[in-house]
Amino acid sequence: MTQSRTAIGIDVGGTGIKGAGVDPESGEKLTSRHKVLTPAGARPEDVAREVGAMAAAIRAELVASGRAAEDARLPVGVTLPVVVRHGIVRTAANIDASWIGLDAHALLSEAIGSECLVVNDADAAGVAESAFGAANGQSGATLVLTFGTGIGAAFIYDGALVPNFELGHIELDGHPIIERHAAAKVIEREGISLDEWAARVARYLGHLEKIVNPDRFVIGGSISKSADQYLPFPGVTVPVVPAHFRNNAGIVGAARLAAHPA
Ligand code: BGC
Repeated sequence: MTQSRTAIGIDVGGTGIKGAGVDPESGEKLTSRHKVLTPAGARPEDVAREVGAMAAAIRAELVASGRAAEDARLPVGVTLPVVVRHGIVRTAANIDASWIGLDAHALLSEAIGSECLVVNDADAAGVAESAFGAANGQSGATLVLTFGTGIGAAFIYDGALVPNFELGHIELDGHPIIERHAAAKVIEREGISLDEWAARVARYLGHLEKIVNPDRFVIGGSISKSADQYLPFPGVTVPVVPAHFRNNAGIVGAARLAAHPA
């Protein structure tokens, strides 16, 4: 029995809720990947119910495989696609507005039946990439950007997370919220080509390069799987690497943070 090497990560997105048992020391997945659709409207009580049920199902799988004792207190980390400060939700760009001001730590801990850690989705992805992935062992400043429904950002310095970098919400070239112009979702919404999207992202990264000065960019989110079709970005001088974790970054990072809170 290796209880300290067992945690649960659950990643709540606007479209799906995904989770798994994870070894927080290696990032290895210990169970199957659980997935349900995010309840329509993504209202807090509906999401909490699904998160609670998923945590119980993952836990049952860990117990059945002998990776956790029946009565073990497992670290559980949950991501939300919002700014979370000290467990309280501060923004809600792509989920129901009633999350704003809510004590997500209390709500989700109650639904799960034990203390959980709540973290921004991109921050969790950044932790996964820094601890086990594309930025593993790298010193200095790493900016992990996740391109999906929105644009998430995680700033990691010498392996430590600086949370809640909301770089998808800056104004650029007359676009008041840049994620509405350059998130991966825009390809489908506006019917633009991958090349057109990549040109938008190249401009965005060129701008971020000037204001944040990272040592490297890591490109994650749903679009990272086709990185060979759009990298390198013209005009971006800082190294740009695709994320190591594709759809599991949030799960792995949430589990890692729950086991090793910053
Ligand atoms: C939210 C961020 C989130 C990102 C990716 C943005 O709209 O403001 O907090 O990390 O979407 O889900």
